[in-house]
Amino acid sequence: MGCCRCCCIILLTSVIIIGFSLGFFAGFFPYPTHASCKVTWQFGRPCKQVKDALINQIKEWSSNSCSSKQQCGYEYYGEDGNTIRGKRRTPVLKFVDSFNFTFESNGIGCKVEGVSASDAWYAVVDFGYNYCNLKNLVIGSRLDERDPAYEEESSNSICTMYSIAHCNLYSE
Ligand SMILES: *[C@@H]1O[C@H](CO)[C@@H](O)[C@H](O)[C@H]1NC(C)=O
Repeated sequence: MGCCRCCCIILLTSVIIIGFSLGFFAGFFPYPTHASCKVTWQFGRPCKQVKDALINQIKEWSSNSCSSKQQCGYEYYGEDGNTIRGKRRTPVLKFVDSFNFTFESNGIGCKVEGVSASDAWYAVVDFGYNYCNLKNLVIGSRLDERDPAYEEESSNSICTMYSIAHCNLYSE
């Protein structure tokens, strides 16, 4: 009888935990189920300029040339077609994130889609790292400055912790 009661409690607990998790992810969890971020930017300059600026910034913040006061841990993986790729090792969590930027010319200048995703399949929260991996490159290369056409678009449903991420160009 003791055993039966014990089983019952375990079963009930499992059902509650699983139910809660499903509800949590489906209903209350506002972010992607895998730590990742997708952002669309509009720039008022040609794609060539935007692409070169981002590549230079990735290289400047890659391991062999980075002063530790700045963002570091970036690695440039090259270019194919309209897409450039890279990786970033996040300093605190030691996760590796893969990212890419895809460029598309339009009437205003250049539309860029940036995507960053944690290489760890189990990562769900990222303290905004995936967003900041991308955003810091834009700020660092000053692509957001003196550009009246500059626009950024994303949301919590496609970018983990977008609304509360606090990107910083300097490591604390
Ligand atoms: C960019 O990275 C994301 C996430 O890893 C991936 O799903 C997407 O296919 C990549 N885009 C391109 C153009 O390779």
